[in-house]
Parts: sequence; C-alpha cells; structure tokens
Amino acid sequence: MKILKLLFLLLIINLNAQQGGMWIPSQLEGAREKEMKSLGSNLTAAAIYAIDKPSLKDAIVHFNGGCTAEVISKKGLLLTNHHCGYGAIQSHSTIEHDYLQDGFWAYKQKEELENKGMFVTFIKRIDDVTVPVLKGTLKNLSNKENQDIISQNIEKLVKNTKKEDWQEANIKAFYKGNQYFLFVTEKFKDIRLVGAPPSSIGKFGADTDNWMWPRHTGDFSLFRIYADKNNRPAEYSKKNKPYKPNHYLPVSVDGVEEGDFTLVFGFPGKTNKYLPAVALNQIVSTLNPVKIDIRDKALKIVDKYMRNDNEIKIQYASKFARISNYWKKWIGENQGIEKSKAIQKKQDLEKIFELKVKGTDDQNLLAKFDKLYKEVEEVALARDIWIETVYRNVEILNATYRIYQLELASQKGKEAFNEQKENTLKSFKGFYKNYSAKVDKEVFRTLVTMYFKNNPKKYTPETITNIAVTKLTNTIFSNSSLTSLDKLTKLLDGDMNSVLKRINEDKAYQFGKELVSIFYTKINPDFNAIQTKIAIVQKKYMSALMQHFPEERFFPDANSTLRVTYGQVKGYEPKDAVYYKPVSNLKGVIEKYVPNDYEFDVSEKLIDLYKTKDFGNYAKEGKIPVNFLGTNHTTGGNSGSPVIDANGNLIGLNFDRVWEGTMSDYNYDPEICRNIMVDARYILFIIDKYAGAKRIIKEIDIVHPKKK
Ligand code: ARG
Ligand code: ASP
Repeated sequence: MKILKLLFLLLIINLNAQQGGMWIPSQLEGAREKEMKSLGSNLTAAAIYAIDKPSLKDAIVHFNGGCTAEVISKKGLLLTNHHCGYGAIQSHSTIEHDYLQDGFWAYKQKEELENKGMFVTFIKRIDDVTVPVLKGTLKNLSNKENQDIISQNIEKLVKNTKKEDWQEANIKAFYKGNQYFLFVTEKFKDIRLVGAPPSSIGKFGADTDNWMWPRHTGDFSLFRIYADKNNRPAEYSKKNKPYKPNHYLPVSVDGVEEGDFTLVFGFPGKTNKYLPAVALNQIVSTLNPVKIDIRDKALKIVDKYMRNDNEIKIQYASKFARISNYWKKWIGENQGIEKSKAIQKKQDLEKIFELKVKGTDDQNLLAKFDKLYKEVEEVALARDIWIETVYRNVEILNATYRIYQLELASQKGKEAFNEQKENTLKSFKGFYKNYSAKVDKEVFRTLVTMYFKNNPKKYTPETITNIAVTKLTNTIFSNSSLTSLDKLTKLLDGDMNSVLKRINEDKAYQFGKELVSIFYTKINPDFNAIQTKIAIVQKKYMSALMQHFPEERFFPDANSTLRVTYGQVKGYEPKDAVYYKPVSNLKGVIEKYVPNDYEFDVSEKLIDLYKTKDFGNYAKEGKIPVNFLGTNHTTGGNSGSPVIDANGNLIGLNFDRVWEGTMSDYNYDPEICRNIMVDARYILFIIDKYAGAKRIIKEIDIVHPKKK
C-alpha cells in the first residue's frame, strides 16, 4: 500500500514537472524543442541558438552584470527595465533635470547620454567542456586534490580557447559541478541612455505593488550600444557609432491572449531546486524568519522618517526599495512553500530515492545531508544575522566594515593603503549623500539589541556581549566621526599611521571592528568549511537523482548564465474562489490613481491620453494593455529579459513574479508560479504617444505576425 502511494506521488511529481526549468540555449534540440512545439512555438532550436548564422541569442545581452537587455533595432537600441536602468537614470538627474521624476527622452541621437562604467555582454558561443574539465579527476583522490585538477584544467582550457582578441572566455559549473560549459563573450562599454519614462509610469505602484498582481507598471527604459568603426567593443568616444547587431528582435503589436506561447531569454541569477528537504526546512523555519524580522524592524523605522521628512524620503527611496524587495519576497516565498507543501513533496521524493539507492554508494547521501545541515545551522544563522545587521541595515556598521578594509590594506604597505583610502573616500561620498544619522541611530539601537538577543553566543565577540545598547548608541552617535562625511574626511586625513591610530580611537569603529573581525575569523571560516562538505554531497546527490529518475526533466540551477525558459500566457487562482486574469489595462492605472502619492500618482498627460482615447495602433478593443502573466520560470536577473512569441518577435518585457509564486527559486509550481511582463504595446504607446519620440519608434521594426 505504502509503495503504491509513493508511486502515485511520483507520478504527480512527474506530471507537474512538465513545465518550468531554465535551459542552456545550446542544448535545446530534441526534448526541449518538442516541448516548446507542444506549447505552440514555431521556433527551431537553431533559430534560438546558432553559431554559424544569426539567431535570437545574438540579440540578448547581460546588462551591467545583473539584469538582461535585448537589441530591438539595427542600430543597437537596447530595451531593459526601468528598475535596471534606475541607477543610470538617477546619476544623470539633478534638481533642474529630474529624469527619475519627469522621464528622459533623447529626441536626437546626439542627446543620448554616456554612462561611465556601464557595460553589456553578448554570448558568442557556448561549448560543453565537461570531459576536458574533469580529465584526471579520480574517485580515490581527495576532494581538494580533485578540485585542484579541475582548476588547472579550467585555466588551461580558457587560455587555449579559440577566440578573437577583443573577446573573453570563461567556464562555469552546472548541475552542481557535474557538468561544465565554456562561454565566449563580447563586452561593450559605450552604452548610452536613450529614454526612460517618469517613475510614475516606470515604477508605478512602487513597493506596494512590487511582487503583486494585478500590476500596472511600465517598467522599461532604453539604451544604445556604441561600437568603434569596425563595429567592435570600445571605450566611450565621440567617434563611436551605433552598434550593428547580428540580430535584433522585431516588435509585434498583435498582442497576447491566454494560451499564447512565450519564451523568456535572459540571465537568471540563482535558483536552488535540488536542495534536500532538511535544507529547505532550514531556510523556511530558521533563516528566512530571522531575516524577515530584521528587515521588518529596519523598514518600519525608515518608513516613519521618510513619511515625515521630504529630504529623508529622497535619500532613502532607493535603499528602501532594495531592502523591502527581498523582505517581501521572503515572506511570499515562505507562504508559498508552505501552501504548496514543498517540503512534504521533497520528503516523499526522498523516500523513493532511498528505496532506489539502497545498497549503492549513494545510500548515505540523505543521512549526510541531515548531519551537515544540523551542523551548519548555528553558523548559517549567525552569518545571516551578521549580514542583515552589520552589512545591510545598520549603515554606520557598514561604514566600519569599509574602514576595516582600509585597515587591512595597511598591512600591504603605505601605497596600498593610500590607494584604498582614495577609493574608500570616493565611495563614502555617495554613501553620506544619502545618510541620515537620525534614522540610522534608531535603526542601530533596535537592530543591535536584536543582534545580542538572537545571535548565537559562540559567534558574538566576548568583549562586547554585556554591552548596554542604549548607552552604546548614545555614545557612538554623539562621539563617532562616522556620522558625517565632513568628520570622516578629517578622520582619514594624514599619513597611514596617524589615520590608523585615529580610527582605532573612534567609538563606532571600535565596536564595528569587533563585529567585523569575528565575521572574518570565525563566522565565515566555519560556514565555508561546512559548505564545502555540503557541496560535495550535493554534487553526488544531483548526479544520483539524474541517474535514478531518468524520466525526469532536470535543468541546471540558475548561475547567471544565458538561459531559455518557456511557457504560456496564463492567469491563476491565488486562493479559493479568486481567479486572476492574465492581462491588465490602462484603465487599471487610472483606477489606482492617488493624486500626489509617491507610489500611485499619474501624470496629467497620461490621464489625457486615456480620456481622449489617443491610443494610436496600440489598443485592442479600445483598451491599452499594460502587463501580462505567463508560466515562464524566471528569477532575479531575468529582469529586462525579452518575452518572445512563437515566431521570434518581441511581445513583452519580463520584470517581476507574483507573490504567491516567489518560491519558484526552490519549487516551481505551474499552478501558481507566474512571471510578470510589460506588454510591448504599452512600451510603444508610451514612447510614441506619451513621449512623442517618433525617432525611436521609426527605428523599431514593428510587425503583425497574427495578421498575416
Ligand atoms: N521585484 C522585482 C525584482 O525582484 C522588481 C524590483 C524593483 N522594484 C521595487 N519596487 N523594488 O527585481
Ligand atoms: N525583479 C527581478 C529582477 O530584477 C525578477 C524576478 O525576481 O522575478 O531580476
């Protein structure tokens, strides 16, 4: 009976597994191609990825190392999210020209704005190098010995890769180190800002609507790649010309309907699908709650000050968005894991696994996981509490962390110290521009109190365990030089030895240094030592899963490399008796409108366009579509990824997921996991009708595939 039940469960697990997955573009032929076809695609594997002729992959770039962007014209025009271009848009903004507030449009090519330090990376080629990377590794060698062999092989392979002078090569591990792939890349460094809607469109709904459906955000911005006279990467120069791509995506204005095929092509950052149940349980029960709690307290304090003070509101807007983004994600993630019984499902699978591996080399893997995750729990907790307190939320402690790096540099001599000092001062300029000691003082008192309460004793410096936090807070915030840029600049003035002496007399630094030291001397080494052991078991477990469940679809967890994910336009049922339709419309923007609100204000111009129904060719049955939902399996890093139709045209721009489905990083469930995309027609409508940027509309290849 029990076996029958298990087999039945296995069947369900398999049926559910027909969707989701983030696939390597060079490995689509066969099974993946067939699946895409069954979902409505007309694309061949070679149309998506090829090296001997142009393919979709030639239009996709990793944007500034984090997001994704795509080329949408033969003149190198790039489309990505507003939240991906946010830093660049902000850096060009002044009180007179507030592009975040009002938007920015280059009506002429020469008005396009340079972005120092920005880059985009194309993938030219992907090769499976598993065999040469693992060459020489042996079962009876120690893990360290094998790891050394692998590192040497990788170094050699990268060095001997055939590529052009201006290209780069790197190798990454997949399937937990069971496979390796080599990437030849091309990096462009002259990237200019072309257009961005005002935040009231690009960030409409802000944090309240973040991770939510129904959604109405025009989360897009436009950039352009510039190249030298040979169309190759070059540093910024007035002489550079718009880049001529091997492929660009035509934009379809025929729109989407429930059931339409969608392909999302981009650079997902990190997922963890193949964790054992004990690990997922640790995340849900121990780690996420502590992180949520710390951020919850910090956000409440910051919010209070932001609401009462306009200057603080501007200073903390971006930081608040960043901290609240994952705070909200973790809450949704925990609820989703519980609701979808993800841990139970893993345990069921593990029971079957145990039966299958009985008597083989793999029979102890799950027991090893149990032991190691028990062992790592305390230090994993200490590490997360440390990161959330010292590094992310108490700003003055983050400042001590930076000064600690400076003190470390002094060990390498005066020159290294002075160089580091210059960089530290530079980074502090940006830091203090957005710093309020008033806000930070309250965050400090609250979070440091929690720190002493929650942090395992073993990982709390003995010298400070009995400190009275209120007194400490007052001492630090009335005496330390780390509360303003002026005082800090004076603190760091002079030669190495006098600076070292002075910083070590500073009250904030004295306290911070204890915390930073214990991180480097105890927390991180302990954590890494156990993680290394876990990684060895995880590699074997991954390989055993693939061996014993050959009928399963195994995709390699996201690792910031180029991936294809596909699905269909689809609504969902977040709870009993509630059904969410998959497309939102401009009407909903007007419904959410709250005059002068920082999240839900709508500009007069957009209201006018709505009232006069000045929709151009972008409306469908009198409505302007804004966002839509799909079953594509995406994660952080997929922001800005193109959504491509059955024929290779762009129909949307990925930017978020629904709250009930944010657990997809651990457990993609096709019932409830949805990605959120901006409809291409809304993007064109805003460029054309709202901004009047005809020059940009003209260069985009607008197509009607459904009307053929
Ligand atoms: N949740 C989306 C992502 O993870 C959008 C974040 C940007 N928006 C925001 N309100 N923080 O990146
Ligand atoms: N908003 C995320 C990003 O910036 C996408 C996601 O997590 O779904 O990449």
